[in-house]
Amino acid sequence: MSIHKEVKKITTHVLQEMKQNNEKISMLTGYDYSMAKILDEAGVDIILVGDSASNVMAGHETTLPITLNEMIYHASSVIRAINRALVVVDLPFGSYQGNSKEALTSAIRIMKEAGGHSVKLEGGKEILESVNRILSAGIPVMGHLGLTPQSIYKFGTYTVRAKEEEEAERLVQDAKLLEEAGCFALILEKIPAHLGAIVAKELTIPVIGIGAGNGVDGQVLVSHDMLGINNEFNPRFLRKYDNLHDRMLTAFQSYIKDVRTGDFPNDSEQY
Ligand code: KIV
Repeated sequence: MSIHKEVKKITTHVLQEMKQNNEKISMLTGYDYSMAKILDEAGVDIILVGDSASNVMAGHETTLPITLNEMIYHASSVIRAINRALVVVDLPFGSYQGNSKEALTSAIRIMKEAGGHSVKLEGGKEILESVNRILSAGIPVMGHLGLTPQSIYKFGTYTVRAKEEEEAERLVQDAKLLEEAGCFALILEKIPAHLGAIVAKELTIPVIGIGAGNGVDGQVLVSHDMLGINNEFNPRFLRKYDNLHDRMLTAFQSYIKDVRTGDFPNDSEQY
């Protein structure tokens, strides 16, 4: 008899069952080994290796500069840490748009070199050919509609999307297209709550929201934001579960003081 506790791994099928059973899905971003280990231990269902790494890890203003090689580096660090969670990896800007062959090559690199479980692409009808080609290779795809940060220069702002009827209708059509193509789940970012609820009701695949209200099948946040590491980002949809910026600052300042005063290391902290 094995003394190891069986871990029920989260798969795309488990997520589908969760939707059917009305169980909410939890998802958070992770970009490195140590954080991913804690996320997995906490029991998060999905870890997103988001291209938000471009902002929170690398300090870029947008998600556009991050490269496929950099995403593979982050994803492989996360994959080494996890036991249970499903890992979704963002295909970065420029690695899939307008060229389905390149999209497939990028997705295969994520799966082969990083050991990813699935990929996420931003957009609807305009990227359908890429979605279909990746799916045809047996790679699970998560869609992403609403505010799609890789298109920030087209939108011009990060404000709420699909407030007008025409854009809302287009979003619903795109969501249906992605489901029909075979996507296993969909992210909706920064749209009115009533629209999020409509999409979640009309689709059979799980719909996960970030700023899309409470009527969807699950929620995702950027871990650094919900931990309060970045205290300059305060959108309405963000709930902060800690203020790590202040707590880390205090810890670093205490260390610096102890080094300067000679208090660290003390007798029991040396050989
Ligand atoms: O890159 C990311 O963190 C994301 C989430 C905002 C959904 O795509």
